[in-house]
Amino acid sequence: MKIAILTSGGDSSGMNPAIKKFVEVCYEKEYEPYFVYNGLEGLIDGKIKKAEYKDVAGIIYRGGTIIRSSRSKRWFEKKYRKIAFENLKKHKIDLLIILGGDGSFRALNVFYNEFKIPFMGIPASIDNDLPMNEYMIGVDTALNVIRSAVDDIRDTASSFSRAFVIETMGRECGYLALTSAVANGVEMCLIPEVEFNLENLKKRYLKEIEKGRNYFIAIVAEGLKISQKIKEWFESEIGFESRITILGHIQRGGSPTVIERLRAAEFIEFALDNFEKNPNKIVTYYKDNFVLRDLEEIVNSKYALDEKMLNLAKPLMGLERS
Ligand code: F6P
Repeated sequence: MKIAILTSGGDSSGMNPAIKKFVEVCYEKEYEPYFVYNGLEGLIDGKIKKAEYKDVAGIIYRGGTIIRSSRSKRWFEKKYRKIAFENLKKHKIDLLIILGGDGSFRALNVFYNEFKIPFMGIPASIDNDLPMNEYMIGVDTALNVIRSAVDDIRDTASSFSRAFVIETMGRECGYLALTSAVANGVEMCLIPEVEFNLENLKKRYLKEIEKGRNYFIAIVAEGLKISQKIKEWFESEIGFESRITILGHIQRGGSPTVIERLRAAEFIEFALDNFEKNPNKIVTYYKDNFVLRDLEEIVNSKYALDEKMLNLAKPLMGLERS
């Protein structure tokens, strides 16, 4: 049995521990592990190579993915997907394991419908935006990177009378902003999923300033594209000099946290323990358990943010809690 693994889309911290576990479990179970380098681009280019123990020695603490990743434009053309299929056939790959996010799973869905290559999918992306799934590999490390950045910004913020607008990644999803805002006790949280009320926030902030508040920290999700507008709002409406920090790609890096390393290993074990009886599934993490789901179900559903977390953050959006 030959099993190949590839990492696709935005890399995330925790992919390396997953890759290491993959090689170890394959050898334990007497499967032959293969790497597809460079994600879907590499699949098209035939960059498929047998994996050895030595390839994964010493990678557990490293962010990113040693087998690299890509966003493939060529994948949208069937002629390249056919080449990818032929490359897998040439190497006699029996199962393909893909670590990636919603875009990668959509790409996988098209590929599976055309060529029926057996697969298992493992959610990995800092965005944490996969439907029916509560954790994607990379999100815990990203949240910790944001926590550390907000702590550092608070040092300078509390030394000046200023407002700081911190922009988090996540594409159209506000998960990173929402969770970080609650975890870091900031004053404002704006995300694409919820209509916020700046007038209410203004009223509260002005009262707080009267009572001695002398700095603000706002977390704004990149999907809204309004960080500059919010900076100007603090200056014109609240009367505070303001600065923007766009955290950007530092959120994708960093040594994987303990949670990340453990879950990455568990995802891999679960996939390798289950693919024979239940092939062609996405392994999701749901209510503290691993749950297999159909790819079609995943790609045809929409993710939803946790209601309890949303409720906690409502005052930071100028809304009443329910
Ligand atoms: O999907 C992960 C992510 O980091 C998003 O949060 C972000 O919008 C995007 O990737 C950035 O993509 P790129 O690295 O291609 O600029």
